[in-house]
Amino acid sequence: MSDADPLARLAALEAELTAQLSDAESLDELESLRIAILGRKGQLAEFTKSLGALPDTARPVVGQRLNAVKAKLTALLDEKRSLLSRQGAQAAVGRADITLPGTAPALGRHHPITRLLGEVCQAFESLGFEIVEGPEVEFEYYNFEALNIPAQHPSRDAFDTFYLDEPSPQPKKGGLLLRSHTSPVQIRVMEHRQPPVRVVVPGRVFRPDAADASHSFMFHQVEGLVVDRGITMAHLKGLLTVLLKRLFGPATATRFRPHYFPFTEPSAEVDIACLLCRGSGCSVCGQKGWVEVLGCGMVHPNVFRHVGYDPREVTGLAFGLGIERLAMLRSGINDIRLFFENDARLLAQF
Ligand code: PHE
Repeated sequence: MSDADPLARLAALEAELTAQLSDAESLDELESLRIAILGRKGQLAEFTKSLGALPDTARPVVGQRLNAVKAKLTALLDEKRSLLSRQGAQAAVGRADITLPGTAPALGRHHPITRLLGEVCQAFESLGFEIVEGPEVEFEYYNFEALNIPAQHPSRDAFDTFYLDEPSPQPKKGGLLLRSHTSPVQIRVMEHRQPPVRVVVPGRVFRPDAADASHSFMFHQVEGLVVDRGITMAHLKGLLTVLLKRLFGPATATRFRPHYFPFTEPSAEVDIACLLCRGSGCSVCGQKGWVEVLGCGMVHPNVFRHVGYDPREVTGLAFGLGIERLAMLRSGINDIRLFFENDARLLAQF
C-alpha cells in the first residue's frame, strides 16, 4: 500500500479495525482497543498526523473520509460495549449463588417526635377530639390580636417572632409571620363553626431563640380547645390529669400552678413530678422536684368576642403542650438538639 494513496490506506485501516472490534470478547479487551484505536496516541491519531504531508487539495477529501471512519468505529464500539455488558449480566445471573444470605435493606421508621405527636393525638381522639391542622405561615391577627395579645406585648417584638418580608395577601389581618404557637388555629376553627367544639391541633411552631440544650428555633406543640355550654376548670384539670397519666404512667403526680396567658383567664401551667427523682429534687428538674409540661386555662371572653361567640352563652378550656419537652422527659434525653441533628444512631433507639 503506497503512501501516495491515503484513501486506500484508510480503507484498509478501517477494515482491520472493524474486524478487531467485532472480534473483541470482553469489556476489558474492548477498552484496550478503544485506547489503541481512538485514543490520543491511537491509530487514527497516527493516521491524522500522516496527513500533514498531503498536498492542500487532497487533505479535505481524506479528512472528511477520516471523520466518517471515526464516527463509524465509535458507533461500533458503543454497540459492542452494550452487547458485552448485557451478556456479562446474564452470565452473572446464571452464576449467582442463591443460597447466600441476602443484604437486608435498612428499614426507616417514624421520627420519635412524629411518633409522640401521633400518640398524643390518638389519646385525645379516644376522648372524642377531632384533629385539625393550620398553616405554619400565619397572619399577625391570628397569632396575636384575635388571641387578645395586645400590640405592646413583648412576644410581638421582632426579636421574639419570625416576621416575613412578603407583603400580606390580606392586609386587614396584618403581616405574615411564622406562627409562634399553635393557638392561632383555635381562632381559625371557631371562625368557621359553632359550639360545641372539641379539637386538638398538632404542629410546628417557631421562635427565634438561640439553640441550646433546652431551646430550638422550631419545635412542636399540640393545642387543645373545648368550647361548649358549662365547660369549667374542673373539666380542664380532669382532662389534662388523665392525659398526663396516660403518657407518663398512672402514678404520675400533677400540679396546676397559676400563670398568665393573654388568651386564657384564669390560666395555669401544669407540672408533673420529675420522672427521675419522683419529686425529691435532682439536676434534671433543677432541684425543684417538678417539671413544667404545658400551659392551659379557660378561654378569655375577648377571644370569644373576636370569633363572634357569646361569652355569656359558652365557656371553653384550652391548653398547649410542647412535644419535645414531653419526649425528653419520657426518654431521658437531655438535649433538644439531638432530635434535629438527624443522627440515625440516636433516632433508631426509639
Ligand atoms: N400558646 C401557649 C404557648 O405557646 C400555650 C397555651 C395554649 C396556653 C392554650 C394556654 C392555652 O405557650
